[in-house]
Amino acid sequence: MRSGKKIIIFLSIILPCAFFYWNLSSRSVTILLWHWPFHTKLNLKGDVCLLNYSIAGCHLTDERSLYSNADIVVFHHHELKSKRVKLPLHLFRPAGQRWLWMSLESPRNNGYLNQYAGIFNLTMSYSPSADVTVPYGRLMSKEERSNDFTIPQNKTELVCWVVSQYQRRQRRSRVYQQLNNTIPVQVYGHSVKRPLSKDKLLPTISRCYFYLSFENSESPHYITEKLWRNAFQAGTVPVVLGPSRKDYEAVAPTNSFIHVDDFESIDALGTFLKDLARDPERYRSYFAWHQNYRVKLYTDWRERLCNICPVYDSLPHKIYHDLKAWEGC
Ligand SMILES: *[C@@H]1O[C@H](CO)[C@@H](O)[C@H](O)[C@H]1NC(C)=O
Ligand SMILES: *[C@@H]1O[C@H](CO)[C@@H](O)[C@H](O)[C@H]1NC(C)=O
Ligand SMILES: *[C@@H]1O[C@H](CO)[C@@H](O)[C@H](O)[C@H]1NC(C)=O
Repeated sequence: MRSGKKIIIFLSIILPCAFFYWNLSSRSVTILLWHWPFHTKLNLKGDVCLLNYSIAGCHLTDERSLYSNADIVVFHHHELKSKRVKLPLHLFRPAGQRWLWMSLESPRNNGYLNQYAGIFNLTMSYSPSADVTVPYGRLMSKEERSNDFTIPQNKTELVCWVVSQYQRRQRRSRVYQQLNNTIPVQVYGHSVKRPLSKDKLLPTISRCYFYLSFENSESPHYITEKLWRNAFQAGTVPVVLGPSRKDYEAVAPTNSFIHVDDFESIDALGTFLKDLARDPERYRSYFAWHQNYRVKLYTDWRERLCNICPVYDSLPHKIYHDLKAWEGC
């Protein structure tokens, strides 16, 4: 073979590869977190997204000096609301840079959003209508059916509830009161001066047949760790109060939870729970889904932020002129 031909063959192999790698590295996305949620700074040393979550090409930083190079600047709502952090509205916004509004609270707890007209390009929340949806948890299919889950056998309490902020006027408090008139409900948490430390939480709840996964706010799709961790991971059956049954069924099997709204009265719910706890076979059926799914919790802000990168290319280009209206969707 003539050497010229060899060179052409060589180049025709090398060039596309070089281009491919150049393209990969140039596609690295820089995400600047303007301030840490709830002032809890986490370690960002090394390639956090790659090392912890196997997400490549995702540079997560909290160094404001990198502002002009950031593809996305993330603002967590809570600190803006409390005015501990101000939006850097005086800064020039490089072409293509997008500002992202982030909150995992329900609309009721986010409060007024009117002041943010025309500032943000993206939203990130638990809501499916957000540009980046970050649920509190989800079920992941197991590759193979397996019986690696066993129902805790040490159940001694019928119904348990952990509540840190008890407000009489909330519907969940009224439901609890009524239920407690019918069947015994064990209550834990600061509000009743029976706090549970982090390491006692799941072992304590695992001893209950049922757990009241009552959200602090009833809002579409607002389903928190009260379902995923406190109930599902503890190995108990959740009695849910929050969004509609339809919203729960969108993320969890029909027969994995009991919805407060399924019953004509709270007395009827109480009777149902009492009977169900006495019927081992029927009670066990509420755990059948464990054969096919396992619970994935999302608790680390770094993981949530790294998850922006895989969807970066498909994020829409827009300006939120009315965040409040979007939130109402
Ligand atoms: C983001 O929003 C700002 C403010 O409304 C706007 O000026 C900018 O063009 C938007 N950027 C992108 C990339 O959509
Ligand atoms: C009850 O049993 C479960 C496992 O079956 C265990 O994880 C938990 O610690 C036990 N709870 C107590 C209070 O012993
Ligand atoms: C719940 O019921 C128990 C037993 O009937 C009762 O002693 C307790 O005071 C009730 N709790 C509340 C907060 O009403």
